[in-house]
Amino acid sequence: MMSVPAHLDSEAKEDLQAPSRVPDFCRIAPDVTLGANVTFFAFVNLYGCSIGDNSRIGAFVEVQKNASIGRNVKVSSHTFICEGVRIEDDVFIGHNVSFINDKYPRATSDGGGLQTEDDWTVISTVVKRGASIGTGSTILCGITVGESAIVGAGSVVTRDVPPNTIVAGNPARVLRTIVNAPEEK
Ligand SMILES: CC(C)(COP(=O)(O)OP(=O)(O)OC[C@H]1O[C@@H](n2cnc3c(N)ncnc32)[C@H](O)[C@@H]1OP(=O)(O)O)[C@@H](O)C(=O)NCCC(=O)NCCS
Repeated sequence: MMSVPAHLDSEAKEDLQAPSRVPDFCRIAPDVTLGANVTFFAFVNLYGCSIGDNSRIGAFVEVQKNASIGRNVKVSSHTFICEGVRIEDDVFIGHNVSFINDKYPRATSDGGGLQTEDDWTVISTVVKRGASIGTGSTILCGITVGESAIVGAGSVVTRDVPPNTIVAGNPARVLRTIVNAPEEK
C-alpha cells in the first residue's frame, strides 16, 4: 500500500487510494504537491515536486524535487524530469526525454569524496505553455523552450527555442515557424 501525502484533502486522498489512480509500484513521496485528477501509470517515482490538475504521468517516469509540472501536461513513459525544471500548462513531453541541470557534472569533489548538493549549482530550464518535446530528446540546462514550440524526436537542445518554432537534430536547429496548419494543432 502506498503512503498518501498528508497535505491532500480527504477527497484527493480517496482518489489517490483508488487503484485506477495510483497503480502498484509507484512511489509518490509525502512532500509531493498534487493537483486534482492527476493520473499515473506504474513505476512512477515522484519526490519534492508539484504536479498540476489533470496531468498524466507515464510509466517509469521520475520527477525530482524542486521540479514543477503544470496543468493538463502529458508526460510519456521513461522520461526523467530533474530538479530545476519548470513545465508550464498544456505541455506534451514524449517518451524517454531527459532534462539536465548540471553542465559540468562530476562524481567527486576536490577532497575525493562523492559530491553533495553543496558542491554544485542547479541550472534551471523552463518549457513554456503548449510546447511539445519529441521522443528521445535531451534538453540541456539553462534552456527556455518557447510557447507552443515543437522539439523534433531525438533532438539535443543546446539553445533556447523561440515560441511557435519547430527545431530538430543534434544540435537542434530551427526547421521552421509553425503556421497552425490542422496537423500542427
Ligand atoms: C520535427 C517534426 C515535428 C516535423 O517537423 P516538420 O517541420 O513538419 O519537418 P518535415 O517532416 O517537413 O522535415 C523537414 C526536414 O527535417 C528533418 N527532420 C524531421 N524530423 C526530424 C527529427 N526529429 N530530427 C532530425 N531531423 C528531422 C526531415 O528529414 C527533413 O529533412 P530534409 O529537408 O533534409 O529532407 C517531426 O518530424 C518530429 O520529430 N515530431 C516529434 C514526434 C514525436 O516525438 N512524437 C512523440 C509521441 S509519438
